[in-house]
Amino acid sequence: MKENMDKPVHPKIVLWRPMYDQLGHRMFEQAGATIAVVDTSDAEALKAELAGAQALWVRTPERVTAEIMDAAPSLITISTSGFGTDNIDLPAATERGILVVNHLGFGRTPVAEHSLMLLLAVMKQLIWGDRGARDGSAWSTRSNLNFLELEGRTIGLLGLGYIGSELARKLKLGFGCRVIAYDPHVNARMAAAADVELAEELEEMLGQVDALCICAELNDETRNIISDNAFNALPKGSFVVNAARGQIIDLDALTRALDSGQIAGAGLDVVYPEPLPQDHPLLRHQKVIFTPHTAGITVETSAKLTQSAIDQVMTVLGGGEPRFAVNAQAWEVSASRRPAIELSS
Ligand SMILES: NC(=O)c1ccc[n+]([C@@H]2O[C@H](COP(=O)([O-])OP(=O)(O)OC[C@H]3O[C@@H](n4cnc5c(N)ncnc54)[C@H](O)[C@@H]3O)[C@@H](O)[C@H]2O)c1
Repeated sequence: MKENMDKPVHPKIVLWRPMYDQLGHRMFEQAGATIAVVDTSDAEALKAELAGAQALWVRTPERVTAEIMDAAPSLITISTSGFGTDNIDLPAATERGILVVNHLGFGRTPVAEHSLMLLLAVMKQLIWGDRGARDGSAWSTRSNLNFLELEGRTIGLLGLGYIGSELARKLKLGFGCRVIAYDPHVNARMAAAADVELAEELEEMLGQVDALCICAELNDETRNIISDNAFNALPKGSFVVNAARGQIIDLDALTRALDSGQIAGAGLDVVYPEPLPQDHPLLRHQKVIFTPHTAGITVETSAKLTQSAIDQVMTVLGGGEPRFAVNAQAWEVSASRRPAIELSS
């Protein structure tokens, strides 16, 4: 329902979990908004704060459901924390005239670097080396292990967007790798611009690579796309890295492939669910290196993501069109639901 147009509203923005760069909290206040931070997964606590709020910023993996939106009748915009929007019920937001904004392309540098780090770490058994050097156990066993080089290897990319293209560039320029991508939404010209070979079929790419790096978005096509068939199509002893979205890999299939030696090692920044239950077999697997979904939140990128969230949310609250509207079809309804806003703090 539209709020009283005559009496300007002081905007309230709810942050579900603190922002990556907490300077952002002050920046929102300096831009003229009141903020409330909900630092719990409890949806009821969130709903209580959302009454009277015009904007919500949400950090993955908290999920914004239709039920939550129904508890927030004044809400006109939701900002993600990064690129992914899979934690927001987009059709429900559109139906309610709530404009969702995300932050496109910010993962390019940090996630490409992180993927490279995970790939090198699994090929060179970094965690084993660190632990063994500290407790002394590595000195007697280090000759029995295989430490591999990345130079000149063939690397497969699932997804050739911002992150995939940047990872390809780093692999080619830094390590002389041959890079093959599978991305059915990319054409030959785009692949040529990224200087990457494009495979027409996923299996065609998988059969040729020493390592597979997941750089695709999560959608109905990519959910569990890397399962038993894909692991069996990879050459025995190859590596897998995922810094995109956890649900792209079937983790039970990955466990089987690691146990059988089909896959030599995996570097995982993302899993599903996050966090994994403590009794999940992968958590004790020596061939896996984990990071806790931190690939995209370097100091540099956190500052950029924070600025982007503030700019876009304040733009929507001010009646303008934001840079990255995910459900642009909701913009008009969202704008028509916007109350007169008082931006002085
Ligand atoms: N780990 C992190 O902290 C972190 C940070 C930022 C982004 N990400 C994730 O990284 C992924 C890629 O981000 P980006 O900025 O490169 O996005 P992008 O939109 O530029 O690229 C995604 C690519 O996935 C491709 N794709 C879609 N369906 C596919 C399919 N069936 N098979 C293969 N490819 C397919 C798209 O065509 C696109 O090229 C996203 O899932 C994003 O959520 C993770």
